Amino acid sequence: MVWSFKKSDALSEQQFFLWESLLEKRTGIQLARTQHVLLQAQISIRMRELGLEDYQQYFDFVDNEAIGIAEWQVLVDRLVVKETSFFRHRPSLSLVEELLQERLSQQSSTLAQKIDSFEMWSVGCSTGEEPYALAAIANDCFEAAGVAPYFGVTAADISMPALSIARQGIYSRRSLNLLENNELSRYFTRQEKDKYKIADKIKKRVCFSQINILHLQHKPVQPMDVIFCQNVLIYFRRWRRREILKQLVKHLKPGGVLVIGLGELTEWRHDELKRIDSSEVQAYKKII
Ligand SMILES: C[S@@+](CC[C@H](N)C(=O)[O-])C[C@H]1O[C@@H](n2cnc3c(N)ncnc32)[C@H](O)[C@@H]1O
Repeated sequence: MVWSFKKSDALSEQQFFLWESLLEKRTGIQLARTQHVLLQAQISIRMRELGLEDYQQYFDFVDNEAIGIAEWQVLVDRLVVKETSFFRHRPSLSLVEELLQERLSQQSSTLAQKIDSFEMWSVGCSTGEEPYALAAIANDCFEAAGVAPYFGVTAADISMPALSIARQGIYSRRSLNLLENNELSRYFTRQEKDKYKIADKIKKRVCFSQINILHLQHKPVQPMDVIFCQNVLIYFRRWRRREILKQLVKHLKPGGVLVIGLGELTEWRHDELKRIDSSEVQAYKKII
């Protein structure tokens, strides 16, 4: 038997512009020219799955917020970069550990306030490795100190399929490559084949929800001790990165810490924040 595939026509410059504009308007993501190939490939694959041949017809469908919203959810998942791994940036996690140690040592001094709760937020959490790592760090610190305050991680992403993988908490060995063996055995149970399931005591600390980072102002989120927003802002224009960070600062408790990816926004300042002195992490403490 001879298989034959109909080769899709290339997207025209004008159609690239339409798709790029739609993606940026709805997600904030600005595509580099080198990503045109990815855009073309993902759109063509999706159109083939739907049995469509006309780019404009598909665009008009997705662009229609009333009828195209479910299709947009599918497509956006294919266009965002979801690369992540457990303990991806250890120095940033060590900073959270230090913050917790500092709070715990204050707690043991007579003048200090007791830790009643510790809230963290992973913004752009992808498939869950980052929020689970945050929960694991906090779990270890509280266990070692012999205290049991409430702590939790709110984990948010625009991609529903990524959130669904995150909620399962089952990973291949590859995404756990940066873990030491003792961490792997403490945080995961091995399942059949190459699969590892996050421990229940970590899993129950993380709550996943869909959020578009462009609409943070409409989200009722409780004040946070730690906000992690790593490897998300790099896809946005600089003015938008600043706007998003300004929104995130509103959700920080006094003394809370905002952590972004190193170099994701250089020379950024905010009146309510002090940059933490470190060459390895880009993090800010809320001082008022
Ligand atoms: C490269 S991953 C980063 C994952 C994790 N923070 C890390 O550093 O490993 C970027 C994530 O940002 C999410 N994202 C992109 N645009 C978004 C938006 N407008 N709102 C919320 N999440 C978004 C993507 O879906 C993706 O899962």
